Amino acid sequence: MKMQNPFPLYYSLFLFFLATATMISPSLGALGKCNPSDYKALMGIKNSLDILNTDLLSWVPNTDCCHWDGIKCDSKTNRVNDLNIFAGDTTGQISSTLGDLPYLESIVFTRFGFINGSIPQSITKLKHLKVLDLGDMSLSGPIPTFLNQLTNLTYLDLSLNKFSGSIPPNLSDLKNMGTIHLDRNRLTGSIPESFGKFTGTVPDLYLSSNKLTGPIPKSLGSLNIRYIDLSRNKLVGDASMLFNPNHDLTTHIDLSGNQLEFDLTKVKFPKNLNWLDLSHNKIFGGIPEEIKYLESLETLKIGYNKLCGKIPSGGNMQRFRSTSFFHNKCLCGVPLVSCKRK
Ligand SMILES: *[C@@H]1O[C@H](CO)[C@@H](O)[C@H](O)[C@H]1NC(C)=O
Ligand SMILES: *[C@@H]1O[C@H](CO)[C@@H](O)[C@H](O)[C@H]1NC(C)=O
Ligand SMILES: *[C@@H]1O[C@H](CO)[C@@H](O)[C@H](O)[C@H]1NC(C)=O
Repeated sequence: MKMQNPFPLYYSLFLFFLATATMISPSLGALGKCNPSDYKALMGIKNSLDILNTDLLSWVPNTDCCHWDGIKCDSKTNRVNDLNIFAGDTTGQISSTLGDLPYLESIVFTRFGFINGSIPQSITKLKHLKVLDLGDMSLSGPIPTFLNQLTNLTYLDLSLNKFSGSIPPNLSDLKNMGTIHLDRNRLTGSIPESFGKFTGTVPDLYLSSNKLTGPIPKSLGSLNIRYIDLSRNKLVGDASMLFNPNHDLTTHIDLSGNQLEFDLTKVKFPKNLNWLDLSHNKIFGGIPEEIKYLESLETLKIGYNKLCGKIPSGGNMQRFRSTSFFHNKCLCGVPLVSCKRK
């Protein structure tokens, strides 16, 4: 009898060995560089979502989270410090385990439009957090006051959500803020007085398209603010305090679509103003001559008000077309109709 070729035996032994090795290896450090506690927190986030079409498909159990889509780990400590995920059509809520990623510096959730609920309070444990971008989701309820505990925050974006209630005055505690986006929500009440007293840097303020009411607090007049957008709210009364020729940082002021009512004649514009939109209000008086000397002014919209008198000419005024000025009470002169002689 001829001996069979022994190869199949060795081969199957080899296959057996291989299979056993791959079966054992998950329990022997399959997480790779991923810190087990970070892994657990991330799995908590994944499990609170109904995943359809998203970065989270790459979050496979028992693999190295530092290689998952949307995750970055610090190169020295291997702790997760950056969460930047794209969610597609995913539904669900933000898990409170988000607060168990203590080294996070940046949270950016993109296209999480179907994710609702609220911001978990556990987020206040993230003492390194600088960027919190939860824009364009379906988060609701009041904007949490506990956000003022994120002392290192520089960028906050909660725009395009369904937040209601008033703006927490305590956000002005945040000393390193560079930008606050609360626009396109359902916020009511008035702009907090405390927003005129940012103790550190003055952040760019985006509060447009809410239901904010009342007058603009006088305190805001002291801010050498770079960018302020209060458009499309229900603000009333005076806004002239926002204009100060000594505010050299101010480049963008948008107050359009409110019910503001003040005399523009005596306003002194910030020197470096680039964008001024006061359209759709009840502003009266005339346009100050000085406006023509604003070298950086590129966008001017003061239509749909109650302004009167001659539009300044010369200087930089040839930049602006009639649409900048139309639908006022009795503005006249180029580029509108010429002023009638008395
Ligand atoms: C969140 O959305 C789900 C449907 O996806 C709904 O059943 C639930 O009531 C919503 N929760 C909140 C707080 O809006
Ligand atoms: C907060 O920021 C300051 C200044 O940038 C830094 O010195 C400090 O270490 C930060 N704190 C945390 C917990 O990251
Ligand atoms: C705001 O913060 C101050 C201290 O910074 C605290 O006394 C006050 O209770 C806080 N208000 C709210 C509504 O959280």
